Amino acid sequence: MNVKEIVRKMTLEEKAGLCSGADFWRTKAVERLDVPQMMVSDGPHGLRKQEETGDHLGLDESVKAVCFPAGCATAASFDRKLLRTLGETLGKECQAEGIGVLLGPAVNIKRSPLCGRNFEYFSEDPYLAGQAAASYVKGVQSQGVGTSIKHFLLNSQEHRRMSSSSEADERTIREIYLPAFEEAVKTAKPWTVMCSYNRINGVYAAQNKKYLTDVLRGEWGFDGFVVSDWGAVNDRAADLEAGLDLEMPTSFGINDKKIVEAVERGELAEEVLDKAVERILTIVEKSVANRKEGAVYDKEADHRLARKAAAECMVLLKNDGVLPLRKGARIAFIGEFAEKPRFQGGGSSHINTCRTESAWEMADKSHVIYAQGYSAGADRLDDTLLSEAIRAASLADTAVVFAGLPDAYESEGFDRTHMHLPECQNELIEAVSDANPNTIVVLHNGAPVEMPWLHKVKGVLEAYLGGQAVGGAVLDVLYGDVNPSGRLPETFPLKLEDNPSYIFYSGEGDKVEYREGVFVGYRYYDKKKMEVLFPFGHGLSYTSFLYTNLKLSKKRMNDTEELLVTVEVKNVGQCTGKEVVQLYVAAPQDGDIIRPVRELRGFEKVELAPGERRTLSFKLRKRAFAYYDTEISDFRVPTGEYRVEIGKSSRDICLSEGVTVKDTSGKRILVTMDTTFGDIMKIAGAKEIVEALVAQMGIADSGSDGSMGEGTADMVEAMMGYMPLRSALSFSGGQVSFKQVEEVIERLNRLQDN
Ligand code: BGC
Repeated sequence: MNVKEIVRKMTLEEKAGLCSGADFWRTKAVERLDVPQMMVSDGPHGLRKQEETGDHLGLDESVKAVCFPAGCATAASFDRKLLRTLGETLGKECQAEGIGVLLGPAVNIKRSPLCGRNFEYFSEDPYLAGQAAASYVKGVQSQGVGTSIKHFLLNSQEHRRMSSSSEADERTIREIYLPAFEEAVKTAKPWTVMCSYNRINGVYAAQNKKYLTDVLRGEWGFDGFVVSDWGAVNDRAADLEAGLDLEMPTSFGINDKKIVEAVERGELAEEVLDKAVERILTIVEKSVANRKEGAVYDKEADHRLARKAAAECMVLLKNDGVLPLRKGARIAFIGEFAEKPRFQGGGSSHINTCRTESAWEMADKSHVIYAQGYSAGADRLDDTLLSEAIRAASLADTAVVFAGLPDAYESEGFDRTHMHLPECQNELIEAVSDANPNTIVVLHNGAPVEMPWLHKVKGVLEAYLGGQAVGGAVLDVLYGDVNPSGRLPETFPLKLEDNPSYIFYSGEGDKVEYREGVFVGYRYYDKKKMEVLFPFGHGLSYTSFLYTNLKLSKKRMNDTEELLVTVEVKNVGQCTGKEVVQLYVAAPQDGDIIRPVRELRGFEKVELAPGERRTLSFKLRKRAFAYYDTEISDFRVPTGEYRVEIGKSSRDICLSEGVTVKDTSGKRILVTMDTTFGDIMKIAGAKEIVEALVAQMGIADSGSDGSMGEGTADMVEAMMGYMPLRSALSFSGGQVSFKQVEEVIERLNRLQDN
C-alpha cells in the first residue's frame, strides 16, 4: 500500500471520514482503495477487547483476557526488563486478538494521592515514568503492534477531567509533565499518542498546537498519529489544524461533514487534512504489514508471568523481623481481600479476567486459617466478623490482615476525597494487632493510604493492584520464595494535607492551578525536610546491600560532556536478592534558581547472591543537571558544583561525590539601567569596570568610620548587590554622568560578545 498514492486517489469525503472511527474501536476502511479497518483496544495492563457494544468506562463486556499488575505496581518494580517483557506479552496477545494498537501506557504524573486513576499511572517522578513507559512501548511494538501513550498532557486528576484547565508554568510542564512522554517518544517511538480531555492553560489538549505539533512533532520528531481520548474532540477542524489526526470513537459522520465544509469554505487547508490522513494510513499500513495471521497465545503461561511480575512489584514497607513467614507456622489470613483480592481498578482499563487467584485459595490450608474480618463494600465493622477475626488472630503465630481500597474508592472518572482506608479496616487492624503482636498488613491499593496503625504492626507489604495472579504472588513474597525487590514509585505522606497540591488540587470550577510548580512528590517533601510515612524509592529486602567505591569520571566538565558514574554494590546478607540502586543529582541550593534538593536521574536493578558484588555504571548528560530556563526556552545547567548521590531512597543517600559543571549555553545578561550590580558582577571581566564606577560614586567608603555600626563594609557591599545601575546617578552626588553609565552598559554588553 503506497500511502501517498492512496491519499491522492481519495475524495475529500473519504479523507474527512478516515479522520474518525468507524465505531467504538475501529478505524474506517476505504474498500475501493483496499484500505482495511484497524482495531484498537484498551490497555494498559491487559486487553479489554470489546466485540459487541463498546464503552470507555469498562461497563460492557469484553473478551476474557489476562490482567497483569497495573502501572502503579509495575513502576514499583523499577525493572526495565520486566516492563519490556510485559509489553512483549501484551503485544503477542494483541496479535492473537487482531488488535493493531494497544491503548497504553498511561504515564500521567501522580500529582496527588487523590487522582482516581493513579493506579494506572507510574510515578510522581518523570524519570521513572519515562523509563517505564519507554520499556513498555518497546516491548509491545517489538511484536508489530502499536501503542498509544496517554494522556497527553497535564491530566493528573479525574475531577472535571473533560472540562477543566490545568494551569501550569512552562518550566513545570517541561521538567515534570512532559519528560515521561518525551523519553518514550524519543527512544521508543510509539506509533500513536493519545491527547487528553482537559485543557492546558486554557486550550483543550485536542486543540493545542503548541504541544501536539510544535513540541511533539517539531521538537521530539514524533511521526505517528495523534488520537483523541474517547470523546475529547471539541472543534473538529481546529483540532485537525492543531495536530489531532484521528477522532475516536466515531462521530457518526457529524465531524466528517464539518471537516469537508471547513475545507470547502477555505477555513482548513486540504494539505492539513492530507497530512493527517497520511499519518493514519501509515500506521494502518504498518499494522497490516506486521499482522501475524493465526497467532495464538497461552493464557496459562501469561497467568504465570502475571504472578511472577506481581511478586517483583511488591514493596516491603516495614519488617520488624516477622517476615518471611516460616513454612509450617500457624498463620491467620484475615480480611476479605485474602479471599477476593482487589487487583485492578475501575474504568477503561478493567479486564474481564480469564482467572483470578486469591491468597486464601493458594494457601496451605493445613497451616493457614481464614477469617473474613470485614466486607469490602462496608465502612463499619460487623461485630461477628470482628470477633471471628480476633479469635483467628489469637490462635495463630502470625496474623496477616489483607486490607486496601474497595473499588468504589478508586476508579477512572472520579477522584478520591480522602486518603484513608475504610474505617472498618483500620479498626480491624488495630483489634487484630491487639490480639496478636505479630501482625502483618498486606495492602491492595493503587495509591498511598494513611496508616494510623503503623506503629502497632510488625510488617507491611504493599501489593498495589497486582493483577489476577496477585494471590500466589503475595504468598511467594510472604514465605520468602521471592525476595521482595519493589521500591515506592511515589512518596507516602503522613497525611493528605502534607501533599504539595493539597490546597489547590481540584481547583476552582474549571481552573486547576498547579501552584506547587516543580515541587511534586519527594521534590517537595525533601525541600521542606518534612517527615513522611515512607519516602520515594523506599523498599526493604530479606537481605541487605552495601554500596562502596562511588567514582565519577571527571571532577570538572562542560555541560556538553558526558559523566560516567560507577559504584559497587555487594549483597552482605544471607540470601539472594535484587537491589534497586538509585542515582540522584543534587543541584546547588545557593544559586538564583529555585531547585529541588535532589532528582532521580538513574537507577539499576541488580540480582546478587550472598557475598556477590557488582560494579554498576551510569552515564549522565546535560539533562541530568539541567533545569528549564524560560528565558532561553531551553534546558540549561547553571555553572556550579553538583552532587551525584547514590541511595536506597530519596531519604537514604549512602554515597555522594561532587562535580563542577560549566554552563556553555552562552546565556547573556542583558545589561540595562535596571540591571543590579550583583547580577553584573556575574559577568566575567565585569569586576574592574564596576569597581571603577563604584569608586567614582564614592560610596564604597561609606560608614567606614563606624557610624553605621559594625560590619558596615560588608553591609554596603550586600546592599550594593541589589541596587540597579541607575543608582550610580542618584547616589553619587552628581559625580557620575548619564553618558558615563551608558558607556558602562555598552562595555558590559560588549564584554559578553567574546
Ligand atoms: C480513557 C482512555 C481510554 C479510552 C477508551 C477514555 O475514557 O481516558 O484511557 O483509552 O477511554 O476506552
